[in-house]
Amino acid sequence: MTPLIAIRGLRKTYLMGDENIHALAGVDLDFQAGEFVAILGPSGSGKSTLMHILGFMDTPSEGSIVFDGREVAVLAPDLRAWYRSNRVGFVFQSFNLLPRLTVEENVALPLLYREGSVPAANLIAARAALERVGMSHRLDHLPSQLSGGERQRVAIARAIVGSPSIIFADEPTGNLDVKNIDRILDLLGSLIKEGITVVLVTHDLSVAEKAHRVISMRAGLVHEDRSR
Ligand SMILES: Nc1ncnc2c1ncn2[C@@H]1O[C@H](COP(=O)(O)OP(=O)(O)OP(=O)(O)O)[C@@H](O)[C@H]1O
Ligand SMILES: [Mg+2]
Repeated sequence: MTPLIAIRGLRKTYLMGDENIHALAGVDLDFQAGEFVAILGPSGSGKSTLMHILGFMDTPSEGSIVFDGREVAVLAPDLRAWYRSNRVGFVFQSFNLLPRLTVEENVALPLLYREGSVPAANLIAARAALERVGMSHRLDHLPSQLSGGERQRVAIARAIVGSPSIIFADEPTGNLDVKNIDRILDLLGSLIKEGITVVLVTHDLSVAEKAHRVISMRAGLVHEDRSR
């Protein structure tokens, strides 16, 4: 099967003073449509760097990324923006909600960048996404008026609002209690049934256990890649 994403020789190097930091030191991976993948690894092993590059938030120093048959590692900014807003959903490790926008406006935001988007329809889609994460009762709150777990659920709603092909979630359950972890895992399970690929970073083994495939990273490299 042709993978949804094929990564070859992916490197990200940061120059700090006169030291090169190899955040990604040559990663080869394929992701299939509908896969549920968990990425584990110690702090600093390159997990967020990989997610940011695959989510079109950052560019690699070297290597190839073929997304749906097209090379996307180096794209013009407008094409990168198109992929970011039409093909991927992203849950940041630090949520990145905009402080002056309400919950529903934050969730509707990715739709705003789409061609021909209609504000009223965007808000309807935002409410439906918030319903799926159990946050319908906080539509008009600002992020500062939410708990950490609530902010996390709003960030997840923002990632799914545009019906992406693939969702990258960096520790999406890090601030949640057991009940809400289960709710988010159920939600991810139903997205996978809809054919959406989910790639999540977690330190929680009970979350990783739900994935079909577990990738462990060490020092910017894939250390282990197990499917079951
Ligand atoms: N903008 C940057 N400039 C310089 N070094 C960076 C930058 N971003 C990340 N790094 C370094 O790259 C390495 C990988 O960072 P990354 O954030 O990908 O780790 P991580 O696996 O997500 O860790 P954590 O589990 O703590 O979130 C780290 O050593 C980090 O210090
Ligand atoms: Mg990280």
